[in-house]
Amino acid sequence: MSNNIEGKVVVITGASSGLGEATARLLSAQGATVVLGARRVERIEALADELRRGGGRALALQTDVTRSAEVQALADAALREFGRIDVMINNAGLMPSSPLERLKIADWDRMIDVNIKGVLYGIAAVLPHMKERKSGHIVNVSSVAGHRVRAGTAVYSATKHAVRVLTEGLRQEVKPYDIRTTIISPGAVATELPDSITESDVQAGVKAFYQIAIPADSFARAVVYALSQPDDVDINEILFRPTKQEY
Ligand SMILES: NC(=O)c1ccc[n+]([C@@H]2O[C@H](COP(=O)([O-])OP(=O)(O)OC[C@H]3O[C@@H](n4cnc5c(N)ncnc54)[C@H](OP(=O)(O)O)[C@@H]3O)[C@@H](O)[C@H]2O)c1
Repeated sequence: MSNNIEGKVVVITGASSGLGEATARLLSAQGATVVLGARRVERIEALADELRRGGGRALALQTDVTRSAEVQALADAALREFGRIDVMINNAGLMPSSPLERLKIADWDRMIDVNIKGVLYGIAAVLPHMKERKSGHIVNVSSVAGHRVRAGTAVYSATKHAVRVLTEGLRQEVKPYDIRTTIISPGAVATELPDSITESDVQAGVKAFYQIAIPADSFARAVVYALSQPDDVDINEILFRPTKQEY
């Protein structure tokens, strides 16, 4: 029986670690073709090699999601190599949080550029193709912080709220084209994300909180759940946390 994943061409940004890497592995194991983007090209090339050695189909291309032309080049490479894109997973993100009063403007800019503009560029890179085919699935990664805000995380939280708002607007707009949209909002998952925090006291606090973090395949299984539904079922939003997480 088909799992509605086998044979799909799935583009994943931020595939060099954490959630993106785990998702690439699980989708490849289920028969998807994966196209991997991230800045650390040696990591995604090694992952693509490994997946190909295991019998999968995989391609890696160095991609900085803050550059729209590079995101378009990633989508174009997928089309050239595999003929279509069934799923775009806009996963790349970072979390250099700190209280607003510290005025870490460069960190604010990076979060806005990667977490919001990177997602928009990912949508732009695949939407014309999916509209033309009247088929496709766009998965955008938000966060519990896209549902709630607390002191010290305002900018990150704002970017993740923006991802949810953009995705819901997109959902309504793409109805005529049978395109599915899914927002996935994880709680604490053990990845390299806390390493992106530039303020050492904030990083120490987040790392202490992440003691309860769950493995990245929790996210990958949520992706599989959304993708594997029949085409007329659109899983619009998934919010999950470690069982122990209160926030
Ligand atoms: N882990 C959690 O607890 C958690 C919870 C909620 C939401 N999230 C979200 O999940 C997503 C994935 O994060 P993660 O937890 O897997 O963290 P991670 O291990 O740090 O992975 C982040 C990924 O984003 C990529 N990235 C960062 N800046 C990029 C850029 N400019 N261009 C392209 N790729 C870029 C990184 O690749 P390169 O550095 O190689 O470019 C890396 O592959 C993020 O959107 C994050 O906000 C995570």
